[in-house]
Amino acid sequence: MQWSEPLARKIEIAPSILSSDFSRLGSEIEQAEKGGADVIHVDVMDGHFVPNITIGPPVVASIRRCTRLPLDVHLMIEKPDRYVDDFVRAGADWISVHVEADVHLNRTLGYLRESGVRAGIAVNPGTSLASLEEVLALADFVLLMTVNPGFGGQKFIPSSLAKIQRLRKSIATLGCETRIEVDGGIGPENLRDVAAAGAEIIVAGSAVFGPGRDASAAVRELKGIAGRNAG
Ligand code: DX5
Ligand code: ZN
Repeated sequence: MQWSEPLARKIEIAPSILSSDFSRLGSEIEQAEKGGADVIHVDVMDGHFVPNITIGPPVVASIRRCTRLPLDVHLMIEKPDRYVDDFVRAGADWISVHVEADVHLNRTLGYLRESGVRAGIAVNPGTSLASLEEVLALADFVLLMTVNPGFGGQKFIPSSLAKIQRLRKSIATLGCETRIEVDGGIGPENLRDVAAAGAEIIVAGSAVFGPGRDASAAVRELKGIAGRNAG
């Protein structure tokens, strides 16, 4: 599958609504969009795969009606293949499933692409990149977790930088177009480092929607830093 933008080094900002005020979700997303967000990141948690519960397809369908930006649905749920159709129907554009949660990744990634969405593999900090070897070329993107999934506002795990670099090398060796998305503990202070390591899509939750933040200004700042790293 081809990406609409030229891949090379364009860095996209994907605000995660997890830290937003859910009672004002529409206007929170509008603010992020105004600041130049490229994608809206939606965290789906089931209370089993991760110790937290968030939202499901009905909320994704509501968000679909209030933005034209692509919806990047991060499934932190067990046996995610059971719910792919529901999220596709709800309007997801990108869907990532965790390598740790799906024993039939080859089949699921193929199914995601057949369903017309971009197929992503999400990887926990404790999971080796070796587990991606057989499926890397089947994915449109890899979502590297840079915190342990489940909650917003955690601290970036420093060893993630080397992991991003290793993944970038594997992708280059394979010669595939798989993109690298990073998720967790990223803000103005470390965006430059993750971009330099090879990340192309940057998820930011608390840095955009945290208490007292102006989401539009926060996204604009991240876009500015990302722009200076492109090229
Ligand atoms: C965590 C989620 C993240 C979260 C990131 O499990 O997958 O998308 O919203 O939040 P921050 O940017 O605050 O770490
Ligand atoms: Zn996420």
